[in-house]
Amino acid sequence: MLDLLRGVEVPDALAPYLGVDRSRPMHECWVTGHMVAGLDGTAAIGGRVGSLSTAPDQALFRRMRQIADVVLVGAETVRRERYGPVRLTDEAVDWRRARGMSPLPPIAVVSRTLEFDWSAEVFAGASADAPTYLITCAAVEPNRLADARKHATVLVAGGERVEPAAALQALAGLGHRVVLCEGGPTLLGELVAAGRLDELCLSIAPLMGGDPVPVSVTPPGAGLAEFDLVGTMVEEHTLFLRYQRGEMRRHER
Ligand SMILES: NC(=O)c1ccc[n+]([C@@H]2O[C@H](COP(=O)([O-])OP(=O)(O)OC[C@H]3O[C@@H](n4cnc5c(N)ncnc54)[C@H](OP(=O)(O)O)[C@@H]3O)[C@@H](O)[C@H]2O)c1
Repeated sequence: MLDLLRGVEVPDALAPYLGVDRSRPMHECWVTGHMVAGLDGTAAIGGRVGSLSTAPDQALFRRMRQIADVVLVGAETVRRERYGPVRLTDEAVDWRRARGMSPLPPIAVVSRTLEFDWSAEVFAGASADAPTYLITCAAVEPNRLADARKHATVLVAGGERVEPAAALQALAGLGHRVVLCEGGPTLLGELVAAGRLDELCLSIAPLMGGDPVPVSVTPPGAGLAEFDLVGTMVEEHTLFLRYQRGEMRRHER
């Protein structure tokens, strides 16, 4: 047991995340999950992340998108959190350009129903340089699919549901090698169950009593996934934990 003493000042909270080598993923692309939980594990308060996320967590959340080739997110999170296209500072854009990355990562939304308000910023405000993707499955209602194609770049990855592996293969095929998944719990749980989560950046906010929803909801029967703790930081009373997938330590329940 180690006592994690508050010690070395980290001048830039993003620096430890920028320094991670994501060039050797378990599969065709590296998947980083970024989530915030309360002390009791809650992932939302009143159906939104807002009051769960502290000021330092919000700041890191916005900046973390700098690492991503694409930001992957579930449909319910897009609807509830009123997603828009990614915005980054000029400095972050320069950092990306210097590494041969696109100036801004596009958003990729996973949905079976394709029930969206097409005037929402995430669709209407997307630029030609970073068009929003919709990842859906073959079972989607044909009229909705035709409608969706007018507002986003549609990828079909799976039959009755989106298969996480097929979705990630499609994104990798478009050149997206680092996928930042911002949840929600259902989508993250599916990635975990499919053995596709390489890294989890988890913020622990200092409160309890939110909605009874954990940060990851794995489908029944999924195996366990184990992770190694590779980074810890604290600001005010928020803890920032970084985990990476443990080497071949996946067990059946
Ligand atoms: N604490 C955090 O860091 C954090 C992060 C994100 C979200 N949240 C919170 O989480 C809550 C939403 O939770 P959630 O689990 O419902 O969100 P979610 O994972 O974002 O969305 C679930 C939806 O995504 C689509 N989906 C997911 N997996 C799919 C698959 N394999 N195939 C086809 N479609 C799939 C479906 O959309 P369709 O219904 O369109 O078919 C499904 O209803 C909100 O309260 C939000 O604020 C918390």
